[in-house]
Amino acid sequence: MKIRKIVCIGAGYVGGTTMAVIADKCPDIKMVVLDINPRRIAEWNSDALPVFEPGLKEIIARCRGRNLFYEDAHPEAIPDADMVFFSVNTPTKEFGEGAGMASDLQYNEQSARFILPHLKDGAIIVEKSTVPVQTAEAISRILHHNNDGRHFPVLSNPEFLAEGTAIQDLEDPDRVLIGCEENEAGRAAARALAEIYRRWVPEERIIFSNVWSAELSKLTANAFLAQRISSINAMTALCEVTNASVTEISQAIGMDSRIGSKFLEAGVGFGGSCFRKDILNLSYICQQQGLPEEAAYWKSVVGMNDYQINRFTRNVIDRQFNTVTGKKLAVFGFAFKPGTNDTRDSPARYVCLKLLEERAHLAITDPEALENAQRDLQGLTGKVEFEPDPYKAAAGAHAIVLITHWDAYRKLDYRRIFATMEKPASFFDGRNWIDPHTLHEIGFHVYPIGKSPLLPD
Ligand code: NAD
Ligand code: UGA
Repeated sequence: MKIRKIVCIGAGYVGGTTMAVIADKCPDIKMVVLDINPRRIAEWNSDALPVFEPGLKEIIARCRGRNLFYEDAHPEAIPDADMVFFSVNTPTKEFGEGAGMASDLQYNEQSARFILPHLKDGAIIVEKSTVPVQTAEAISRILHHNNDGRHFPVLSNPEFLAEGTAIQDLEDPDRVLIGCEENEAGRAAARALAEIYRRWVPEERIIFSNVWSAELSKLTANAFLAQRISSINAMTALCEVTNASVTEISQAIGMDSRIGSKFLEAGVGFGGSCFRKDILNLSYICQQQGLPEEAAYWKSVVGMNDYQINRFTRNVIDRQFNTVTGKKLAVFGFAFKPGTNDTRDSPARYVCLKLLEERAHLAITDPEALENAQRDLQGLTGKVEFEPDPYKAAAGAHAIVLITHWDAYRKLDYRRIFATMEKPASFFDGRNWIDPHTLHEIGFHVYPIGKSPLLPD
């Protein structure tokens, strides 16, 4: 089947970015990305894109208006679509059965009901959102209640991109996974999707499975990645009291080829829109299937993360002589990781909330995420400044609390910063990002993660 037009429902981080890369690689395919949020669409059509990703601006400049279109959701876009991606949000459900754990699938179902009356027979549906296992089947059931014999193969094609490196991950993915129904129509649909990826992804990296394995592979991948972070973080408190260094341990174990070196950076905890929600969802699915041990096991990965964020924050308070009330603290970084303006589930938010409860005066700085930080902390009582200049944020502060490891923070003149701070000046490095010995020499009281503090002799 020749794919000439693709529609994507949802112009978020994943939909907006993924479709831009496909448009770039396939100039002969018309890509239309729809969203119910008119502000999002207006941003995609402006110079101020809603997503900050290195390399994205250049792709948009090449493709937008050529074969890439961002439009308010309208049914006229659907009838000539050969393929429809679902890339809507699947947040943790906040109400009713499964609240706080299960995925809220209302946006998926709304998307299916929105396209159904307009879809042409044989159009291929591609589930790109991260969803509980068996969601594609539910979508398929909704779409096949059409009473007119139209048939739509439903594929699962989960997205593995990480924010900050999204373009790189999309252009050079470790693998593309396509799950299809085990019948001829399903396999033909999978081949049509693989044909698109084959334009730039090597054949051996495009893999096929059944739909349920594809859906569950995505949750498993995120659970494993987050589990590694929680596992290394679970060593940090012990390191701090035994003079061991967690960085040295990561290096030593990472050289074991069975373990591998990635995702072993200890820190204040993982954030982002997906790890917490996907693991809670996985745990909920286990629970629903009558598997309480498995549910508890996966939930403990999130439990360890919450503990680590709290432990870090308590340490800031303890080391400030048990009171931060009225003290200025400079928070370096609010994005959940460097390279993005995304602050969803950022550990910075939890740390700041707790410090504000203690009535600290916060000066938050971040090179990309200040606007989102301001939105996240809106309406809170307490003294918060949002300061783009880290030198100004640190001036007069008792401590720097580093939460996001932006490159820019390695290039600062900490001697100059130290001179403007209250004394004793402390540095809480939530990412082991700045050389502790350099900071110590300057005169800081240095508190890394998973290493002994460096205090004046
Ligand atoms: P997002 O919130 O940034 O974007 C989702 C978009 O869908 C929103 O703009 C929303 O307005 C739109 N939407 C919701 N219902 C709609 C409807 N009925 N019609 C049209 N538009 C609708 O979310 P995201 O970060 O892009 O994530 C999307 C999915 O991809 C999630 O399931 C997520 O778990 C998964 N995922 C995300 C990432 C990531 O790095 N953000 C990576 C891999 C997978
Ligand atoms: C993660 C996965 O890496 C992607 O494969 C997946 O597609 C995506 O979730 C998703 O499903 O949304 P992302 O959340 O964008 O991507 O970013 P990561 O690089 O995984 O970082 C997540 C968090 O873990 C960040 O807060 C980061 O600082 C933290 N982290 C990461 C550590 O604390 N230590 C590490 O060693 C690595």
